[in-house]
Amino acid sequence: MGVEKSVAVVGLGLMGQALAGAFVRVGYPTTVWNRTPGKAGRLVADGAAVVDSVEEAVAAGSVVVVCVADHGVVRGLLRTVGGGLEGKVLVNLTSATSVQMREIGGLEGVDSYLAGAIMGMPQGIGTTESLVLYSGPRSVFEAHEEVLRVLGEAVYLGADHGLSSLYAGAGVSLMWSVLNGFLHGAALLGAAGVEASAFVPFARQNIATASGWLAGYAGQIDEGAYPGADATIDSHVAAMGSLVQESEANGVNAELPKFIRELAERAAADGRGRDGYAAMIDLFRTP
Ligand SMILES: NC(=O)c1ccc[n+]([C@@H]2O[C@H](COP(=O)([O-])OP(=O)(O)OC[C@H]3O[C@@H](n4cnc5c(N)ncnc54)[C@H](OP(=O)(O)O)[C@@H]3O)[C@@H](O)[C@H]2O)c1
Repeated sequence: MGVEKSVAVVGLGLMGQALAGAFVRVGYPTTVWNRTPGKAGRLVADGAAVVDSVEEAVAAGSVVVVCVADHGVVRGLLRTVGGGLEGKVLVNLTSATSVQMREIGGLEGVDSYLAGAIMGMPQGIGTTESLVLYSGPRSVFEAHEEVLRVLGEAVYLGADHGLSSLYAGAGVSLMWSVLNGFLHGAALLGAAGVEASAFVPFARQNIATASGWLAGYAGQIDEGAYPGADATIDSHVAAMGSLVQESEANGVNAELPKFIRELAERAAADGRGRDGYAAMIDLFRTP
C-alpha cells in the first residue's frame, strides 16, 4: 500500500461515509469533513481524523476526494479552499454532467484533477461490486491508481474530464431502456396472468441476443454504412405496429412501443427505411 499518500474526504453523506470508510479500513491516513458535524463518529472510532473546516481537510490529504450533493456545492467548496489544492490531487466523485466536470478542471487552483462517476451504491464501495469510472490526465490516474482501487474497480477512460460522466450517462440510458422494456413486457404477460418471474429466463435470453448484435451495430455506426441485410427499418416499423396493437388489445400502456415506433417511422420518413436498424443513430445524434 502507498502509505505515503493520505486521503481527505469532503462530504459525509451516504456515499462520502462509504468512501471514507473504505480508505480507513485499508489503513490510509484519512481526514474527513462534513458541513453538518456529527456524521464522523463511526469513522473516527475506526481511525479517521475529523476536522472543522474544508480548508483543514484539504490541507491534510495528498488526495482530496469530494463527494457532495451536486456540482454547485463542489464549486462553492472549491472557492472556499482557494489555492489550498496546490500540489494535491482532486478526485471529484460528485455526480455532474460532462460540461460541469470539465468546468472544474478550468477553475483557479485546480491543477491535478480526476473526474469520477460511481456506478454503484454505498454498500458496495470497497468491494468487487463497486465500479468507479475516471477521466483526466492518464499520469495522474496511474500515479494514484492504488488509492483509487481501494474504492472498487477503477476504470480509466481518457484525458477529457467529461468522459466519466458521458460513459455513466450512456450506461444508465441503456439500463433504463432495458428495464422499461422488461416492465412493459411483464405488464403484457401479466394481462394473461403470467407472473413476472416466469418472464425472467426469456427476458435474459432476449437481452443476451440483443447484446450479441452490439459489436456489429457499432462497426456500422463507426463506418457510417447500414446495410439492411438481416432486417430493415421498414420491417421493424411493421413489427412495432403489432406490439402497439397487442398492448392496446390487452389493456396495457402502449406509450413505450408507440414511442419506439414513432422513432423508427421518423427514420423511415428520412429515407432510411431500407437501411438496417443501426441507421437510427442519426435520430439520436440530432438534438
Ligand atoms: N448514494 C448513492 O447511491 C450514490 C451512487 C452514485 C453516486 N452518488 C453521488 O454521490 C454524491 C453524494 O451522494 P450521497 O448519497 O452521499 O448524498 P447525501 O447522503 O444526500 O449527502 C449529501 C452530502 O452533500 C453535503 N452537502 C449538501 N449541501 C452542501 C453544502 N451547501 N455545503 C457543503 N456540503 C453540502 C451534505 O452535507 P450535510 O450532511 O451537511 O447535509 C452531505 O455530506 C451525489 O452527487 C450522488 O449523485 C450517490
